[in-house]
Amino acid sequence: MALPLVVATRPFPPKVWKQIAIHAHVVCWESDGPATREWLLDHIPEAEGLYCLLTDHIDQEVLRFGKRLRVVSTMSVGYDHIDMPTCTSRNIPVGHTPGILTETTADLAFGLLMASARRIVEGADYVRQGHWADWKPDLLLGQDIYGATLGIVGLGRIGQAMARRAQGFNMKVLAVRSPRQNREASESSGVAGIHDESLDSSSVTFVDLLTALRESDFVSLHVPLTSDTQHLIGASEFHKMKSSSILINTSRGAVVDPTALYHALEQRTIGGVALDVTDPEPLPASHPLLTLPNCLVIPHLGSASIATRSLMSDMAVENVLAGLRGERLPYCVNPEVYQ
Ligand code: DGY
Repeated sequence: MALPLVVATRPFPPKVWKQIAIHAHVVCWESDGPATREWLLDHIPEAEGLYCLLTDHIDQEVLRFGKRLRVVSTMSVGYDHIDMPTCTSRNIPVGHTPGILTETTADLAFGLLMASARRIVEGADYVRQGHWADWKPDLLLGQDIYGATLGIVGLGRIGQAMARRAQGFNMKVLAVRSPRQNREASESSGVAGIHDESLDSSSVTFVDLLTALRESDFVSLHVPLTSDTQHLIGASEFHKMKSSSILINTSRGAVVDPTALYHALEQRTIGGVALDVTDPEPLPASHPLLTLPNCLVIPHLGSASIATRSLMSDMAVENVLAGLRGERLPYCVNPEVYQ
């Protein structure tokens, strides 16, 4: 019997090739950079499985061409690049990689907070550029982190892991539920929704977005990108923040309105920003944001540790193989397809 075809927009890591090859015939995009749309549309019609990344737009057109698809598996926890309603209406289960990247991403978010508060990257550049001639009492002064107030927008897995880190710095944590968590909380008579047992829930105060923006020294975004959260932070939100406040974004670039962000930084409406994710992404080197000294940008490295990326690809492979076997995906975004 012919093996089912899996289209992969990146080569699988060598360690999983053998396992995949037993169960499927694989066509994968071999060149550097994201798979082109043309390539994807060319190959998807015969595919029963799709293994993709967050840089692939799995929209209606791709899904329409992919008539034989039985499983879509993304090597990411986020799935805003996949047209979920279409997948669900066609009973195509979608797999992702939740949980495994929580701590790694929270490490990076807290690292960005520290780097921007204490101007670490500026300091390193200063030394490399040969400016370090003496010790100056007012050189590259930053902000204290210990004891400051951190607003966490979206208290899901990564938001809670961020709150746990903040506890170690004696920070006051103001948490804002994501719009989805708000709906869940109102349906379950206001339960806080803290699932992380090592987080001392009494150290977290739930507030609305406005309060968090007004009172926080740092605001860190941890909401998924949905129609509710697109441009959640725009001009009017920046005007509510403290002029010294630093925004950290490790969620999705489009949660922040990029034009409003540029103006807020340029006019010093806020103190600074540290971004792991941008809109557009990748951010071109010529982008105006990169001319601003109070803007720190890194290239979507939230889950980029050797161990975590390896576990993510394992989970994504487990999902694709389960889908090909007709079994329930172990990490499924739309379990309703099984009802
Ligand atoms: C994800 O998985 O969605 C992150 O953004 C990248 O690891």
